[in-house]
Amino acid sequence: MLTATAIAHANIAFIKYWGNRDETLRLPSNNSISMNLANLDTRTRVTFNPNLKADTLTLNQIPQAGSGLERVSDFLARVRALSGVPHFAAVHSENNFPMGAGIASSASAFAALSLAASAAAGLTLNERELSRLARTGSGSACRSIPAGFVEWQQGTGDSDSYALSIAPPDYWHLADCVAITCKAHKTTGSTEGHALASTSPLQQVRVSAAPQRVEQCRSAILNRDFAAFAEVVELDSNLMHAVMMTSTPPLLYWQAPTLNVMHAVRRWREEGTPVCYTIDAGPNVHVLTPQRYAQEIEGRLRQLSGVEDVLVAAPGGAAQILQE
Ligand code: PMV
Repeated sequence: MLTATAIAHANIAFIKYWGNRDETLRLPSNNSISMNLANLDTRTRVTFNPNLKADTLTLNQIPQAGSGLERVSDFLARVRALSGVPHFAAVHSENNFPMGAGIASSASAFAALSLAASAAAGLTLNERELSRLARTGSGSACRSIPAGFVEWQQGTGDSDSYALSIAPPDYWHLADCVAITCKAHKTTGSTEGHALASTSPLQQVRVSAAPQRVEQCRSAILNRDFAAFAEVVELDSNLMHAVMMTSTPPLLYWQAPTLNVMHAVRRWREEGTPVCYTIDAGPNVHVLTPQRYAQEIEGRLRQLSGVEDVLVAAPGGAAQILQE
């Protein structure tokens, strides 16, 4: 039976990926660093079946059509080419985090799909090969393959652009308290966003100093130095959003509650609590803090106006095959 099931975690970028050197291969303009999010995951089953007339996809048990299915089907075509398995596949995918909560699911989705599809097709890929494959589905998905704290090396081409673990999940007891500020809001997707990055006069500035920020962030993680970490993480997030806001057309992901959380986080840090924020391509705010402060921060976030929910995640492990 050509079937396999895999699980992968979402990840939050501390040093952001924004803009590609090659849009098709998703080769990024700079290295990025992230942490897997332990309890936010996608579980995916792939079955290649000679009786199917086309690929099929269900997401949380709802059959999908259109661009979502197309993106998965393009990805499966790559797995067919690599493996020589000619059949179409049935893909069943489930996220355990609320859909429409604005948590990017493409990273965990394409990481789980890479692992399940390649295993179902009989390929035995090592971690780097899997990470490269996941990258072609969604750039940030390459970072959901290895465990814990992860760096995606931009590389010189397809063969050396993959992610590696820089520290295991239990290395540093950090928590990501995700303040959900807008459940319903529809925003410009990251694939379109990456393509606009080069139209911002600030992208060149952001990219040229990225190696220093990557270095600072990596050492802050390895030294468990929260103050140094907070400084570079907020700077890097602000730089990415400055690029977004100044591209043509401009992208403005922040809503009023987003700013409300950002100000609160800065205030709490000034008052002595180790806490910082980072924001992806949406209005939610990822609030990072050592795990021993997570409960208190979660409580404080819940009291802020415009915060609809808070999800708390610890560092997560690698993508894994599930035996069924
Ligand atoms: O992998 P994509 O195409 O969804 O891009 C992710 C972009 C950001 O989440 C905004 C930043 C990042 O590095 O994850």
